Amino acid sequence: MLAGKQVLLIIGGGIAAYKTLDLIRRLRERGAGVRAVMTAAAQEFITPLSVGALTADHVFTDLFDRQAEQDVGHIRLSREADLLLVAPATADLMAKLAAGLAGDLASAVLLATDKPVLMAPAMNPRMWAHPATRRNHALLQADGVAFVGPSRGEMAERGEAGLGRMAEPLEIVAAVEAAFAAGPLAGRHVLVTSGPTHEPIDPVRYIANRSSGAQGTAIAAALRDLGARVTFVTGPATVPPPAGVTVVAVETAHEMLAAVQAALPADAAVMAAAVADWRVANPGGQKMKKDGSGRAPALEFAENPDILATVSKGPQRPRLVVGFAAETEKVVEHATAKRLRKGCDWIVANDVSPATGIMGGVENAVTIISEAGAEAWPRLAKDEVARRLAAKIAGALK
Ligand code: C5P
Repeated sequence: MLAGKQVLLIIGGGIAAYKTLDLIRRLRERGAGVRAVMTAAAQEFITPLSVGALTADHVFTDLFDRQAEQDVGHIRLSREADLLLVAPATADLMAKLAAGLAGDLASAVLLATDKPVLMAPAMNPRMWAHPATRRNHALLQADGVAFVGPSRGEMAERGEAGLGRMAEPLEIVAAVEAAFAAGPLAGRHVLVTSGPTHEPIDPVRYIANRSSGAQGTAIAAALRDLGARVTFVTGPATVPPPAGVTVVAVETAHEMLAAVQAALPADAAVMAAAVADWRVANPGGQKMKKDGSGRAPALEFAENPDILATVSKGPQRPRLVVGFAAETEKVVEHATAKRLRKGCDWIVANDVSPATGIMGGVENAVTIISEAGAEAWPRLAKDEVARRLAAKIAGALK
């Protein structure tokens, strides 16, 4: 898939740089040529000698290196690459590119390129969460820079955990492959939720709903076909997940929320899951028994988190958030109110009253509610609804 592709790898100064050595091997295994630029800070963590041994090429470190400028030059470095990959992308490198600074080789190369740029951020969670980094991240996304990670977990500093770990090398390779895939969503990361949730009553019983996951699965496949890297967070659905996407299987709404948050950042999120509104407040640790009194147990319910609203109003909000609304009456009116309440950009509304035969069927008739108003689509196969929605998403992310 990467055969013949030239990746210009820009290595920033962070402890995650040690993983970049493995990343170079993984990229080259798949046929990519890798040429590396290291910042001064990166050289405090790993050496140009080890990077050069793995890339089998000169390692570029200095904007004012006369020999290197004569041989290749920073403009040619960008020009000869098919993709610029920044790993680890430090807060500093993100800030420099967001501001258009070009004071060292790494930032000059990033500013001089017209090739796609993919960043794999790695930094302390507080640095990632800082309003300055949030602003720079949003600016870079708006400029068309693609991102993979960061993920949540232990940091190198003892006792520190949170969002800021660099994505694993194979995840970065998948993002590089997605960036090269043809299609209008190449290089984009889209999160899709699908299927029902199961909320336990006790270890063997649960509360569920009749969602099959068919529409969400079709949407994930359609997004993949347009070149997107798709993270598919699915409850226990009856249809199998599509191939070629990252599948995260969950059961409960709480697990779904955690999986969704771990999958961010994303360029777009499509929340097609039928999440249970309530869970049993205190699921039993043992199977509930009849006590012979003839009385049924009284189940107490607690409200589940609203995943769509949490993501729409959260600090890592994707540029485009799409929710669903299954209604049985006053579809447009209810869905319009829902869009505002949940804070999403679009609502895909459909009439699921039994007479329509949509629930569990192969067709769907949807109305897309956005700030611009309501757009009613004809009754179509769910696959076709998915293809049209994926194309509309590609248009919005352009
Ligand atoms: O409020 P209602 O369930 O009708 O909203 C439907 C939309 O909200 C869907 O996009 C669904 O995936 C999302 N949702 C959610 N978390 C919930 C409930 C609904 O993400 N707890």
